[in-house]
Amino acid sequence: MRTQLKAVLFDLDGVIVDTAKYHYLAWKKLADREGIYFDEKINERLKGVSRMASLEIILERSTRVYSEEEKHKMTEIKNNWYREMIGQLKPDEILPGVIDFLNSLKKHGIKCAICSASKSAAYIIEKLGITDYFDTIVGGQDITKSKPDPEVFLVAAERLNVFPAECVVLEDAYAGLEAAKRAGMKAVGLGDPDILTNADVVYKDMTEVSLEKVLRLFE
Ligand code: BG6
Ligand code: MG
Repeated sequence: MRTQLKAVLFDLDGVIVDTAKYHYLAWKKLADREGIYFDEKINERLKGVSRMASLEIILERSTRVYSEEEKHKMTEIKNNWYREMIGQLKPDEILPGVIDFLNSLKKHGIKCAICSASKSAAYIIEKLGITDYFDTIVGGQDITKSKPDPEVFLVAAERLNVFPAECVVLEDAYAGLEAAKRAGMKAVGLGDPDILTNADVVYKDMTEVSLEKVLRLFE
């Protein structure tokens, strides 16, 4: 029997809402304060990876060595700035195409999950007023290994009681797509096809995604 689509697993930052820009702004503020060079190109590598792993990438360009305690403090400072920024989030920041797609998935009985490395995932979804669309939210506090490790997606599949092969992942980050493939799931990239070279298919953004197109991945 042919494998069917049972669940769609959504990355959060950069897929549901553009919080990626707030992560960038908060990290940039920290890097500037420390006198470390940081730009949008380096920021691409931060997408989908954990808070501490993000800091380690930024510190690759630092001329001094930081203690574990200093690093911990830096991630706290960044997170406080970030939480201040997302405190203002409103439903009108949900990216175009997301609600229409969620409605069509609900209509056809397809399960939905949020799969994010962020410890603020549930908070953000609540702020956006879309908690009820999701059967489960797997966030940073539910996992021990961040993308490109497949853990976040495998936890979601288990909670939804579906097989990995029955899942489609929507991701804007190379590391996230890598995690989806390692989990044995279909991987839809959102963004630049020259960057997201590991996706099964890439669309510009969520306005180009539909249930019909996702189902084609199972033909
Ligand atoms: C991911 C983001 O969703 O969450 C990363 O793409 C971020 O950039 C990670 O580092 C962890 O987020 P947070 O909110 O727990 O620091
Ligand atoms: Mg993302």
